[in-house]
Amino acid sequence: RALRDPHRPRFHFTSPGGWLNDPNGLSHWNGVYHLFYQYNPLAAAHHRIHWGHATSPDLVHWTDEPVALVPGTTGPDRDGCWSGVLVDDGGVPTLVYSGRHGEHELPCVARGSADLRYWTKDPANPVITAPPEGIDITAFRDHCVWREGEVWRQLVGSGIRGVGGTAFLYESDDLRSWRYVGPLLTGDASQNRGELDWTGTMWECVDLFRLGEDEEVGSTDVLVFSAWDEGTTHHPLYWTGRYQGDTFNPTALHRLDYGGRYFYAPQSTRDEHGRRIMFGWLQEGRTDEANAQAGWCGVMSLPRAVTLATDGGLHQTPVPELTGLRRERVEVAPGRLADPYTPLPAVRGDQLDIETTLRLAPGATARLVLRETPDGAERTVVEVSRAPDGASGTLRLRRETSSLDPTVDTELRHGALPLVPDGRVDLRVLVDHSALEIFANGRALTARIYPTRPDEAVGVGIGADGDAALERFDAWQMASAFTDGPRPLWP
Ligand code: FRU
Repeated sequence: RALRDPHRPRFHFTSPGGWLNDPNGLSHWNGVYHLFYQYNPLAAAHHRIHWGHATSPDLVHWTDEPVALVPGTTGPDRDGCWSGVLVDDGGVPTLVYSGRHGEHELPCVARGSADLRYWTKDPANPVITAPPEGIDITAFRDHCVWREGEVWRQLVGSGIRGVGGTAFLYESDDLRSWRYVGPLLTGDASQNRGELDWTGTMWECVDLFRLGEDEEVGSTDVLVFSAWDEGTTHHPLYWTGRYQGDTFNPTALHRLDYGGRYFYAPQSTRDEHGRRIMFGWLQEGRTDEANAQAGWCGVMSLPRAVTLATDGGLHQTPVPELTGLRRERVEVAPGRLADPYTPLPAVRGDQLDIETTLRLAPGATARLVLRETPDGAERTVVEVSRAPDGASGTLRLRRETSSLDPTVDTELRHGALPLVPDGRVDLRVLVDHSALEIFANGRALTARIYPTRPDEAVGVGIGADGDAALERFDAWQMASAFTDGPRPLWP
């Protein structure tokens, strides 16, 4: 297998080897960030999932910790320890996760040592022994748990057959014995506004939080979930609205990341600085065989700070700590952009952080070319457009020439770009080998790209159709977040 896989990111977190999926148990505990994740240490395949664990002082540099949860030889999690959260039970770190046994997935708990390294499963597991009675459900797993006054509350992701995805609400005094309250909110799977925001037949990894809670006015509740159907992971969505009593009154449904399944099953936590920090799972876009050969797969997104945007949606941006990895800076002079694009020989690389400000006239499209081979046979293009009426915009990622390998996914990704009347677009693009994260006016688009000549595919360019100006362009080479160089494949 490839010991030095050129597609392996270097400043995104990846597992030491094997399979990684969802972020779990996110927390900032006594000044240390803890990232747990769905992990199969034995192979780059989704099988008998453990909880991997890594810690960081700064959300940038990560240290591998011992595997936190291993499926039991017997018991309710013998087929896997699936997604869940970490809560502070009066000083005792406690995990709530889905134990998998055959086709059953049921809530389990484990108590941790003070350093969060060693975990003891509760002998009473599973703590909920069956899904709510009398409801024909599509699935029942993943947990969001919080303290509310004197009680614990929990959401379990699910779906009601023939109706839609949902999150079941429970209540408990001790995290061990739970009373079913009812569905917090139920989607409508028959309503298909369009494939891009279909709410699915099951909601995976529900995450409920309040933003703007420090200000009395203007706080909004956010219910994040990943739309799933019959084994297919669709995309992450969120409702904004008001959580009150036992229900969530939605105001609007939004797409969380225009990459769809490339930013899946996100989870967030409020850190000790009061920030809402979110991670998601970057799925692979190459074949299972290619993953198996690489010996690793699955990338954790960069940590994002999530705030409320002025239009009522979420504003997402990589945490500022990441700028600590920036090395040589290259600046490009402002000016009008030319069609189709101008190569920027000074800004080459496959480990880059690009920050630019563009101004688009109505009808204009600006493009940023990335990972281009010298002959132009492979290239990935980020586009931001302003509609002729000037009011709306679109963010696009064109991957059709990102790879000449016909077995990798090169589908277009796109979504709405909020614009102010002056047509300004703040575009931030992070390139980390196969991982690509794009932020345009606070909206995110995450995806994967696999050029066949990765060492040569380092060209960058910028251009436009129509009247577009470059107001600022800075690019930095990014250092590795691990011991300098590639993350060694383990063992
Ligand atoms: C989401 C998910 C969760 C489940 C976990 C299994 O990607 O399917 O619903 O808990 O992954 O690894």
